[in-house]
Amino acid sequence: MYKTLLLAGLVGLASAKPQVPPSPVLLTTTKAGVVPVAPTPFPGVETIEGALIDDGPALPGFVGPGGNATVQSNLPAATYSAVLPSTNFDNLTGSTITGTIVGMAMQGGQGVMFNISFSGLPDAAMYGPLVYHIHEMPVSGGNCTTSLGHLDPTNRGELHACDTANPASCQAGDLAGKHGNITSATFMATYTDPYLSTNPNSSYFFGNRSIVIHSKNATRLTCANFAMGTNGSNSSTSTSASGSSPSSTAGASAANSLNCFSAAAYAMIIAVASVYLL
Ligand SMILES: *[C@@H]1O[C@H](CO)[C@@H](O)[C@H](O)[C@H]1NC(C)=O
Ligand SMILES: *[C@@H]1O[C@H](CO)[C@@H](O)[C@H](O)[C@H]1NC(C)=O
Ligand SMILES: *[C@@H]1O[C@H](CO)[C@@H](O)[C@H](O)[C@H]1NC(C)=O
Ligand SMILES: *[C@@H]1O[C@H](CO)[C@@H](O)[C@H](O)[C@H]1NC(C)=O
Ligand SMILES: *[C@@H]1O[C@H](CO)[C@@H](O)[C@H](O)[C@H]1NC(C)=O
Ligand SMILES: *[C@@H]1O[C@H](CO)[C@@H](O)[C@H](O)[C@H]1NC(C)=O
Ligand SMILES: *[C@@H]1O[C@H](CO)[C@@H](O)[C@H](O)[C@H]1NC(C)=O
Ligand SMILES: *[C@@H]1O[C@H](CO)[C@@H](O)[C@H](O)[C@H]1NC(C)=O
Ligand SMILES: *[C@@H]1O[C@H](CO)[C@@H](O)[C@H](O)[C@H]1NC(C)=O
Ligand SMILES: *[C@@H]1O[C@H](CO)[C@@H](O)[C@H](O)[C@H]1NC(C)=O
Repeated sequence: MYKTLLLAGLVGLASAKPQVPPSPVLLTTTKAGVVPVAPTPFPGVETIEGALIDDGPALPGFVGPGGNATVQSNLPAATYSAVLPSTNFDNLTGSTITGTIVGMAMQGGQGVMFNISFSGLPDAAMYGPLVYHIHEMPVSGGNCTTSLGHLDPTNRGELHACDTANPASCQAGDLAGKHGNITSATFMATYTDPYLSTNPNSSYFFGNRSIVIHSKNATRLTCANFAMGTNGSNSSTSTSASGSSPSSTAGASAANSLNCFSAAAYAMIIAVASVYLL
């Protein structure tokens, strides 16, 4: 699979702008994202870290091979929250983003109610609109890149923006796509998302995953893991990315470059992908 990615990446490097979008192809792994088969005529390739490299317009009706997302019902009562680490100073934006996202379902309920409060967000005019997503894996060692790609049980991929008119067609983890971007220094939102679950048997389960906030060019600014409980009210609560600060420093590390659109970053991705191969 990594070989396919490498090939796709190399071809992507050599080609120009995207043409007609490809049909989604089913991945052989559980990793989020639709990876085109190599060779490919367009550079829309998701990295092995799940960063967005190139996306097209929202295409009405565009869904992954798993079809539309399924409404999650008859859920167990549970609350999972993620608290952003207050120690994370982001060097790219000069900001320390703090806050909490709490997701809660009622016994037998449908969908998950999220209550979000983020502050200290960087200037939206410069770095935004910021986006935030539930990522597939928890963060390890404070490194946001280890959370891999977006939670995407329908395997929709990254090639086209979420069509807000049909949220079932979006990646389940694409909260910003479905419910709106972050456009101010303080962000509060409350909504119910029918395509996420508190049932650990569901592929839409979010309680063992993470939240990641990105700048406009997909750099991961901060991240935190979900854990059972509300913010502070449960000893098993919280959370933040394993103690240390998430590494998201601008251009300073391979991890960061993996999250960007530029050709240089693309080359870096290939370099890192090669390391994975070797
Ligand atoms: C996805 O849902 C939309 C809106 O309900 C519907 O028009 C479309 O046919 C569905 N697509 C698939 C592949 O099920
Ligand atoms: C932050 O950026 C400044 C200026 O580019 C650099 O001198 C400093 O080492 C960086 N800090 C970290 C933690 O990367
Ligand atoms: C959401 O969280 C805020 C605190 O950040 C709280 O004041 C508010 O009551 C909560 N809303 C709901 C619907 O739980
Ligand atoms: C998950 O599946 C197991 C095995 O089928 C079942 O015993 C359990 O009740 C299920 N949990 C929930 C929350 O549905
Ligand atoms: C999270 O839970 C889902 C659903 O049970 C499971 O498929 C997945 O492997 C879990 N992820 C981790 C990192 O434990
Ligand atoms: C949300 O932000 C992303 C990234 O900056 C941008 O591509 C997208 O168009 C924005 N969506 C809306 C509805 O403004
Ligand atoms: C607190 O954590 C325990 C153990 O993980 C869990 O059983 C309990 O449901 C949690 N309480 C709340 C309010 O989430
Ligand atoms: C969650 O905890 C953090 C740090 O303990 C605090 O700053 C924040 O206000 C809390 N958020 C809510 C919604 O209670
Ligand atoms: C972060 O994790 C990614 C993916 O596992 C890895 O390639 C990268 O080297 C890590 N960065 C740091 C600074 O540890
Ligand atoms: C991402 O955007 C920021 C702010 O515009 C910029 O400083 C940084 O260099 C960009 N990163 C890449 C790799 O393009």
